[in-house]
Amino acid sequence: MEKLMVAGGNPLKGRIKISGAKNSAIALIPASILSQSEVILDNMPTLSDVNIYAEILQELNVQVNQKKKDQLVVNASNIRAVPLPNGNVRKLRASYYLMGALLGRCGEAVIGLPGGCNFEPRPIDQHLKGFQALGAEVETVNGSIHLKAKQLRGARIYLDVVSVGATINIMLAAALAEGTTIIENAAKEPEIIDVATLLNSMGAKIKGAGTEMIRIQGVKELNGCRHSIIPDRIQAGTYMIAAAATKGDVVVDQIIPKHMEALTAKLIEMGVHVKEMDESIHIVGNEHYDHVDVKALVYPGFATDLQSPMTSLLTQANGVSTISDYIYSSRFKHIPELMRMGAKVKLEGRTAIIEGSALQSAKVKATDLRAGAALVIAGLTTVDGGITEITGVEFIDRGYDFLVDHLTMLGAEVWREKV
Ligand code: EPU
Repeated sequence: MEKLMVAGGNPLKGRIKISGAKNSAIALIPASILSQSEVILDNMPTLSDVNIYAEILQELNVQVNQKKKDQLVVNASNIRAVPLPNGNVRKLRASYYLMGALLGRCGEAVIGLPGGCNFEPRPIDQHLKGFQALGAEVETVNGSIHLKAKQLRGARIYLDVVSVGATINIMLAAALAEGTTIIENAAKEPEIIDVATLLNSMGAKIKGAGTEMIRIQGVKELNGCRHSIIPDRIQAGTYMIAAAATKGDVVVDQIIPKHMEALTAKLIEMGVHVKEMDESIHIVGNEHYDHVDVKALVYPGFATDLQSPMTSLLTQANGVSTISDYIYSSRFKHIPELMRMGAKVKLEGRTAIIEGSALQSAKVKATDLRAGAALVIAGLTTVDGGITEITGVEFIDRGYDFLVDHLTMLGAEVWREKV
């Protein structure tokens, strides 16, 4: 076990390249088992979740090779739908994508209920409703989901809640179904477009990804292909926020600026200097920031995954800011930890009310991935000369590759120590 040590006070300065998106990668890896032959995934981030996913595929007799650091080659030509009630599937939220992918490819799956960042109950009823609509039998037995279908058939599925996971999972199951599936009230996140792009390169017929209606015309077989994963907009946003919070000067490179619009607009509203270029965004901090109100919503709204990091930045604004999460009503486990560091925050329902104040170093605990990112940013802003000690680093490692290296390169004093 390790902890992260963060000495505050240094403005971040320099240039950082963003890697492939975690939330795309962990959907594209299971998507590639729908193919009969080799799928090459480039721009693969170096993350613990990716390693765990690779191990899960190997349990299914899928060959997974890493010829280059940022590439994964998946060959599922000899796949076997062995039941996976326990073990690695319980460590990952995104193991739920194996339900759609295995159902599509093999007609059956047994998958233990997913784990991952449990900042609040995260139901998967919409995923299961989708599989049932496609003709699958779905049963929960001893904490595992059992799925079976002789032949999946296209259906019209209206999602009661806009869900990234359910939209992708239904696309995976429907790609090889007989006939046409229509997903209404679909999520529009860039990661959904990325999965549809991969599937279409494999020979699927998917239209409308990125809109609220997706049409999937089932095909008989999917082929191999090569695909490059989109940049991680949440990682990019975290570094943009960290640059602003430390009043730094950072170019965040290899990104799609359009994916960052909701954050960019808020930063500008606060008084951060933001310059967009073709594939990068330049952030220059300011001495004083105005308070703002932020609402985390579905894409293209402000991302819930940036809600916790943004809370740390709002502690540095003058006056009273608010941040509400309309995706997860209680994703606020970072708040008590920030308060240990001197943050003045009051929680009212799904809204945090933040009064600007200087933060001090403290011993704090990351309880999920983005809460961990928030604490790192908070630690970087402290000017009391102390060290912020963050335990729960394993959560942060799920979504930020080379975090210590990147921050060090930008001039921060950050290191790991054994607990
Ligand atoms: N929901 C339901 N029923 C369902 C599915 C979702 O009620 O069947 C609810 C959820 O409880 C939540 C809302 O719908 O209130 C949206 O959830 P969604 O399904 O979109 O979330 P997800 O697919 O499980 C992904 C990311 C999350 C990210 C959300 C929202 C992955 C593996 N996870 O989760 O990422 O917060 O979309 O954008 O892709 C993270 O990276 O830190 C992270 C948690």
